[in-house]
Amino acid sequence: MKIERSKLMAKFPKAIFGDLKAAANRKEATGIKLIDLSLGSPDLPPNEKVRMELSKQAALANSYGYTLGGTEKFNEAVANYYNRRSSVTLNPKTDIIQTMGSQEGLVHLPMALCNQGDIVLTTDPGYVAYEAGINMAQAEGYYMPLTSTNEFLPDFDAIPDEVCARAKLLILNLPGNPVPAMPSIAFFNKTVAFAKKHNIIVLHDAAYSEFYFDGSRPLSFLEAEGAMEVGIEINSLSKSFSLAGARIAYIAGNADIIKIIGELKSNLDYGTFRPIQDAAVVALDNAEEITEELRTVFSRRHKILANGLLNIGWEVVPSTGGMFVYAKYPQQQFNDIDFVYHVIEQTGVVIVPGSIFGKSGENYVRIALVQPEELIIEALERLATL
Ligand SMILES: Cc1ncc(COP(=O)(O)O)c(C=O)c1O
Repeated sequence: MKIERSKLMAKFPKAIFGDLKAAANRKEATGIKLIDLSLGSPDLPPNEKVRMELSKQAALANSYGYTLGGTEKFNEAVANYYNRRSSVTLNPKTDIIQTMGSQEGLVHLPMALCNQGDIVLTTDPGYVAYEAGINMAQAEGYYMPLTSTNEFLPDFDAIPDEVCARAKLLILNLPGNPVPAMPSIAFFNKTVAFAKKHNIIVLHDAAYSEFYFDGSRPLSFLEAEGAMEVGIEINSLSKSFSLAGARIAYIAGNADIIKIIGELKSNLDYGTFRPIQDAAVVALDNAEEITEELRTVFSRRHKILANGLLNIGWEVVPSTGGMFVYAKYPQQQFNDIDFVYHVIEQTGVVIVPGSIFGKSGENYVRIALVQPEELIIEALERLATL
């Protein structure tokens, strides 16, 4: 029998991470200790209270049934968290839906809202799951460049009218991956006005909402006036609570949109393991304490890495938040893909080329703040030798 990929599969290119890992492994085999700053996988353990709740609930015999989605307790914990953090009022019954990690939500969501050929507006560079979701829906992506001239924010005024007319969905991510630009209320207000004018649903990915370093938290999109009329926000416990492997996230916002996503999800999965949901409730109920600890660690790392790169002649995109440093390296004789392999080969430091997130990422790299300070300092020392 001949086994063939569907035509759609051509739209899902092989991710570069496997090749980077293979190059890193070859380097490690020569006796060099790698410093891996590639994946945005949090290195800190989840808070002890969260882990204890998970193991307590997992030990109970009656914890193993289908959950069919978020428990009442989980949705209430999300609503309370939003209320405490952002003064946003959410109805736990209608305005929140759980997803099995935000990746799952992001790749499925466009299917629920877009028809074949509709346009989805998103950023270049942008997180790779947006494109996967656009492809799953057989929609078309329109990529708004994030560049230094527009302070790494999308410029809605530059989008042609005919594109706006065909656009169904706008995906934003602030502070983002790979570009850690921060949102302002002025930008979100502008987003709401743009969405209303052109009848476009807004999806804000707030995966890095608890990573900020100067005391001012990134705004929730739902804080902007009128945001609940036009959009939703997806957030995850993966990064802010170091629960990446537990696969738990949620979408909050416009009840009509949440209802449609619920209809799709009822065909896709049977919900997250209840002990994980219970542990997530403990995390959200203790969010202030848990995320403050995270910020103490990450803000130091951010300062060390950003300043260290500046000192060795790199152009660091300024930011006060996010989990990554996004920077232009001085060795511009290399394109960004060749450069990261060169860096692995010469130093054993593993970083990610900007162009895998979109064309505007060419000549930039993304460096994740996922190693202890001493290793970040050592990585800087090695990068200085290039
Ligand atoms: C911007 C952004 N959104 C979503 C995700 C997916 O995270 P998860 O599926 O663990 O919630 C990531 C992971 O790196 C990300 O960077």
